[in-house]
Amino acid sequence: MAKIIVIGSCSVDFTTYAPRLPSPGETLIGTKFTTSFGGKGANQCVAAAKLGGNTSMICRVGNDQWGKSYLDHLKQAGVDTTFVKLMPEVTTGIAQICVAESGENQIVIVPGANAYLKKEDVEHSSQLLTTADVLIGQLETPFETTLEAFKLNKGIKILNAAPAKRGIEEILPYCTILCVNESEASLLTDCDVTIKNAVTTLKKLLDFGCETVIITLGSEGAVYLSKNSQQPVHVLCEQVVPVDTTGAGDAFVGALATFLVLHKEQPIHQIVGAACRVATLSVTKEGTQTSYPNKFNAFEKEYKYINL
Ligand code: RIB
Ligand code: NA
Repeated sequence: MAKIIVIGSCSVDFTTYAPRLPSPGETLIGTKFTTSFGGKGANQCVAAAKLGGNTSMICRVGNDQWGKSYLDHLKQAGVDTTFVKLMPEVTTGIAQICVAESGENQIVIVPGANAYLKKEDVEHSSQLLTTADVLIGQLETPFETTLEAFKLNKGIKILNAAPAKRGIEEILPYCTILCVNESEASLLTDCDVTIKNAVTTLKKLLDFGCETVIITLGSEGAVYLSKNSQQPVHVLCEQVVPVDTTGAGDAFVGALATFLVLHKEQPIHQIVGAACRVATLSVTKEGTQTSYPNKFNAFEKEYKYINL
């Protein structure tokens, strides 16, 4: 079965739920507190595994209670953990998250072990990395490491350039798909990205050398453009009442990877539509991985799209 590898972050999320996000210096009374398994890399990997993808994770966690329970959790989710390294004397990465009633969030990350993901992790897993059908990376772990991995892989390489960061141009020619949200696209192109200027932005991003660019637009769906077709497309998505949007982008990326290998026969607008549907389902429930759907028939319907 086609192999999907994720190289990236694995963090524990400490989430408070409050009526709204606090202002600087303000103390708010929240309604709920949870600890859960997060980190963009692991979220994407678990999203893919839940949808039936054959996944492996390359990451580092601390050799502490969180790292050990995260390792168990990944195994239970069906993820191959051969290249998950437990590090002594470093804490597992954590994210402190506040979720407002509107579904919006605010996140502070302390990388911990994530910051130590090195080229040697790439060397150890080089055989798997070279041959995997899909490789996914993000920007919560050292850039140089992700770049090395992308240079090795011969399959479909998906970079989710999140959280937003400048200075990542070097990796873009190695990307089959660059996937960003509006704010990440804005930072990379130095302009304010909206639906109206999406086509110009897609073209600017393609010029960096990747084969396809996807910009996710939250409740507005996603737009994409490929070097091959040169036809920008807007895929629409269903409107829902958001409960928690944390990790919706990760659900999209994990689903995209899975559908690209398990539903190769589908046209790209259907694959993007199905990935939007997975992300939409995730925002209707609290949490990240806990809100991702299990395998379902995502292609029973035709997704609406507009040629731009
Ligand atoms: O994308 C969502 C993730 O970002 C959270 O799970 C949190 O860990 C942060 O890294
Ligand atoms: Na959610």
